[in-house]
Amino acid sequence: MILRLQDIHTYYGLVHMLQGVSLEVDRGEVLALLGRNGAGKTTVLKSILGLVPPRAGKVIYKDTDITGLAPHLVARRGIAYVPAHRGIFSTLSAEENLEIVRRRSGTGTVDDVFARFPRLAELRSRLGRHLSGGEQQMLAIGRALMTDPSLVLLDEPSQGLAPLVLETIVEMLRGLKREGLAMLLVEQNVDTALALADRVVILDQGAKVFEGKAAQLAADEQIAIRYLGVGV
Ligand SMILES: Nc1ncnc2c1ncn2[C@@H]1O[C@H](COP(=O)(O)OP(=O)(O)OP(=O)(O)O)[C@@H](O)[C@H]1O
Ligand SMILES: [Mg+2]
Repeated sequence: MILRLQDIHTYYGLVHMLQGVSLEVDRGEVLALLGRNGAGKTTVLKSILGLVPPRAGKVIYKDTDITGLAPHLVARRGIAYVPAHRGIFSTLSAEENLEIVRRRSGTGTVDDVFARFPRLAELRSRLGRHLSGGEQQMLAIGRALMTDPSLVLLDEPSQGLAPLVLETIVEMLRGLKREGLAMLLVEQNVDTALALADRVVILDQGAKVFEGKAAQLAADEQIAIRYLGVGV
């Protein structure tokens, strides 16, 4: 196992947002974290990353307690983050967006990323603000890989993407999965989650309401209807 959340409780001021969430991600596994708007999915990622440290419970990564560790130290241990807003610098080129990470903390080179994703290499000199949503997402994933992570946390990579572009992103993530990279994938899009995930956890109002194999969710439409309000 690479990551274990043990009964974490996370607050925003007085609001008790995560009310005892436990989950595990195995080595090489893709775990999808699903739930409606406001269920607490992003808060789970922020709890792991030290951006909003849990007040109780533990975050165990590779057998070490990293609960409340500062975000840059969490990153240095090998957990990468692809935030929902993607965080691409609009006035820097794609190449400069990667280079800036390499200078700060990266182990790989910009050319490694371009060799791996030729589509990105074609965009190397394009400014962040001229990249499409899908291109920005691709760049954000490439940037996450610059630190040679063992675990990647992705927050709704499908968000706002047209179906064809989404398929490109899903293929990219499938490739990373084949290489054995573990991922915690937050999604609202059940189909995207099922296309990638081995297992699924559903959150509702800050608590886990379902956990099972992706195939189980795919086979039983009532689960998605009950907890997500959508069919599969
Ligand atoms: N910094 C914050 N301060 C106060 N409340 C917050 C903060 N961030 C999030 N919240 C609230 O906590 C709840 C859970 O937010 P969270 O972002 O984890 O949900 P989510 O499941 O990721 O939802 P979405 O699908 O909309 O991204 C929401 O009601 C949100 O308004
Ligand atoms: Mg969110």
